[in-house]
Amino acid sequence: MRFDDFPQLTKSYGSVRLYVPGIPSSSSQIVVTRMPGNQFYAVTAKCTHKSVAVNAFKKGEGLRCSAHGSQFEANGKMVKGPARSSLKTYKTIYNGSDAVSVEFPHLGYSMAMELVEGGAGERLKLQVETLSGMDYSVQLRSEVRGGESELANFFLTPSGSLSRTSVAGNGNTMSLYLEPTQDAGFIVIVRE
Ligand code: FES
Repeated sequence: MRFDDFPQLTKSYGSVRLYVPGIPSSSSQIVVTRMPGNQFYAVTAKCTHKSVAVNAFKKGEGLRCSAHGSQFEANGKMVKGPARSSLKTYKTIYNGSDAVSVEFPHLGYSMAMELVEGGAGERLKLQVETLSGMDYSVQLRSEVRGGESELANFFLTPSGSLSRTSVAGNGNTMSLYLEPTQDAGFIVIVRE
């Protein structure tokens, strides 16, 4: 998460709640908070009482669930019920200047693929769930692991003429269109 995209995280006690497609939580949201001393915490927003999403951190009330008033510290520790347990936490890595990464073990992403006719010939449509603050590119590989790989040019519309090799995620499902150049191979979505 670059601070250009999340300016709340440039200051201590800054906090942001955001949607992360694919995390195993009914609300699919997390809260990332910066505490003094460059401490960053990422927790699921899913309240352990009845699963309503807790609010971003506020000094004096922490992460508060507006449904029934449960409160948690920035690191997810439960301080006030009716919730009876703490929020699940995720590991954060601060790069020391302008970004923090959050690690989600086993987070996959879903991708759907189909051939479409768009006036510019056949294109392969990839639908990819994206996260805000991450960049996406497409690699074509001759083998699943190793082998030759190249960065693919893709389009953002079925008939557009402006190709690109990366796009910034926006938290929604994005459609990327490729012109097939090989009969066989593997497509890898790279997220960084
Ligand atoms: S759902 Fe959060 S306090 Fe009840």
